[in-house]
Amino acid sequence: MNKTKHDWSKLQGVDKITVGRYFEYDEDAKKLFQKWFSFLQKPNINVLEIGSGSGFFTNILLNLFDNIKLTCLEPDETFVETLKSRFKNRIKIVNEPIETTTLPSDSFDCTISHIVVHNLVDPIIALQQMSRVVKSKGKIITIDPLPASRNYYPTDEITKAFDFLEKAVRYKCMERQKIKGDMQPRNPWNYFYPKFFEDVGLKNITSHGWTSVFTISDVRYDFSEKKKWFKLRYDLAKKEQANVKVLLLRNGEKETEIDDAYTVVFDYYEKLLTITEEDLKQIHEQEIVHRIITIGEKS
Ligand SMILES: C[S@@+](CC[C@H](N)C(=O)[O-])C[C@H]1O[C@@H](n2cnc3c(N)ncnc32)[C@H](O)[C@@H]1O
Repeated sequence: MNKTKHDWSKLQGVDKITVGRYFEYDEDAKKLFQKWFSFLQKPNINVLEIGSGSGFFTNILLNLFDNIKLTCLEPDETFVETLKSRFKNRIKIVNEPIETTTLPSDSFDCTISHIVVHNLVDPIIALQQMSRVVKSKGKIITIDPLPASRNYYPTDEITKAFDFLEKAVRYKCMERQKIKGDMQPRNPWNYFYPKFFEDVGLKNITSHGWTSVFTISDVRYDFSEKKKWFKLRYDLAKKEQANVKVLLLRNGEKETEIDDAYTVVFDYYEKLLTITEEDLKQIHEQEIVHRIITIGEKS
């Protein structure tokens, strides 16, 4: 395996995933997962999760389907260490990419991936491998993002500051692609997942959608949980500030604009750190995220 190629954690580290997915999938979503993936309720089901990262979806799987035997395939060694310490002997770990996995054919009842196929250079090769490692009548599940996900902030000034600093993420992806040399033309937002499933010969294909809408004033989550998240988010922004600044400067952005954007963002974050429960009811920052869940079966 070419170890230098699998370093997703440098683009999106453990704490970034934690902060980014903190309020994703409420109780309604989890009930739907139990319905859509009801085949995981049977005893002794062997499941392979592909691209487990820091274990965000691994944790959901283990909580919803406590009988499954779970193997996590994760090529990034930093994430492998996180998975080991987070889940101990509750999971097995295979440190490989899906495209070249050495896992034996016909060995799992189900494979599942959460926000992985969308990032791969060739989704078809990955799906062929998922299909190879599942048994006959085994299931393949992919969960991927759809476009038009969006964050809304309380004022235009705050929105502009966040949008400006978000450029750093795009620059980082562009620089990373240049280094890795995988600049082939592809647009994951055009991916039509059921068609990929058909192309690799899967049957009984179904698709479902889920939209997570989280508003800071949301009554589904209690105040202390939101405060915990404000602190994590603030700490992460502070930790990343110097690197983001270097990245933006390297890509031609003006220092004054960067500093001004950070002033606005930190004023807002600091206000949230000390806000009262009553005042928080008036803050409607909103995050909207779309997911498509595709399920297929091997003949
Ligand atoms: C966006 S993260 C998602 C992590 C986790 N599933 C989650 O939802 O938080 C993408 C994950 O896919 C992994 N990944 C990237 N390329 C891969 C490949 N070729 N085979 C398997 N996993 C891969 C990355 O290391 C990373 O853990």
